[in-house]
Amino acid sequence: MACRALSGRAGPPSPRLTRRFLFIFTLSLSGTYLCYNLLRCAGGPLPGPERRCLPARSAGAKKLLQKSRSCGREPGEPGGAASPWGRTRSDEPAWGGPRGAGQEAPPAGNGSGPAKLGSKRLPQALIVGVKKGGTRAVLEFIRVHPEVRAVGTEPHFFDRHYERGLEWYRSLMPRTLSRQITMEKTPSYFVTKEAPRRIFNMSRDTKLIVVVRNPVTRAISDYTQTLSKKPDIPTFEGLSFQNRSLGLVDTSWNAIRIGMYVVHLQSWLQYFPLSQIHFVSGEKLITDPAGEMGKVQDFLGIKRVITDKHFYFNKTKGFPCLKKTESSTLPRCLGKSKGRTHVQIDPEVIEQLRDFYRPYNIKFYETVGQDFRWE
Ligand code: A3P
Repeated sequence: MACRALSGRAGPPSPRLTRRFLFIFTLSLSGTYLCYNLLRCAGGPLPGPERRCLPARSAGAKKLLQKSRSCGREPGEPGGAASPWGRTRSDEPAWGGPRGAGQEAPPAGNGSGPAKLGSKRLPQALIVGVKKGGTRAVLEFIRVHPEVRAVGTEPHFFDRHYERGLEWYRSLMPRTLSRQITMEKTPSYFVTKEAPRRIFNMSRDTKLIVVVRNPVTRAISDYTQTLSKKPDIPTFEGLSFQNRSLGLVDTSWNAIRIGMYVVHLQSWLQYFPLSQIHFVSGEKLITDPAGEMGKVQDFLGIKRVITDKHFYFNKTKGFPCLKKTESSTLPRCLGKSKGRTHVQIDPEVIEQLRDFYRPYNIKFYETVGQDFRWE
């Protein structure tokens, strides 16, 4: 019938017509098969399991493949791709940490790693101060803990970038699992009038850590840092006093003002109970890092994982350093800007500043119920 229809007349089809029909039929079959294979190779829209996955070998290929499917399970799926101990973008070296026996590898990078496990949460704990107190050391030590994930850089959200909103702030955070604590450190929060109220508005349960250090040494450390960037600034002695012979200290100079801890603390106590603020001794952090970090872990409500075993004293640096990092078994110290040699200050000026700070220190000890012995 078909042949008849093709030929348009009755009777048996001619051999020529039959050959033509067979030729067209074979050609269309081959065409269909060719298209099918082309689609398979390109990873095109084929149903379910037929779709191909391509192994991403180079970084460029990986980037390109992010939009298509990669081989293996997706990050986030059980057993999916995860990068242990990723590094965080930071102006200073970020430390990873050794994993003790039986300690599971953290599933997501400690910052901006490629892993997509967990979700970005607003921080539950903040290192809010003080500048030059030892804040970098505390952050780098605590982030060794598998239940802590931290931002490497200082976000300055509650002082400089508050208008960007909490969603912007959250986007800076590393991904965490529900049992993990998200942290960041920005030491200028401690002396920012609006910071306590803003942090309280984010969450009244936020745990606050303040690393404090002898305010005179802190001021010299602060000045040494500024001098390293701006060598033309006046002398420390010149900046410290409104009138040196009268012993009138210039409290408008930031390097002096920051050390009046009890003054700044009042703003925090208007929003947070003392039990929600933990004070780390900047001095003990150097002489007994494990002891101070033990108290930090207790305060955060996490197991004491960071212990003596994690530290060694580096004689060249003159500071405790971590024994090994996430990525290698080599020890790691903080960067050059931490533990600098201070500029020489007239001992008489130091004495005058000690006298100036004494009443503030005593009031501070009384308020927090801790004697830091800054004499
Ligand atoms: P100096 O450079 O004056 O010695 P911050 O990180 O808040 O800016 O504080 C810097 C200070 O941290 C350093 O001040 C240093 O004394 C102190 N610090 C505490 N532990 C340290 C460590 N393990 N390595 C280097 N510096 C440390």
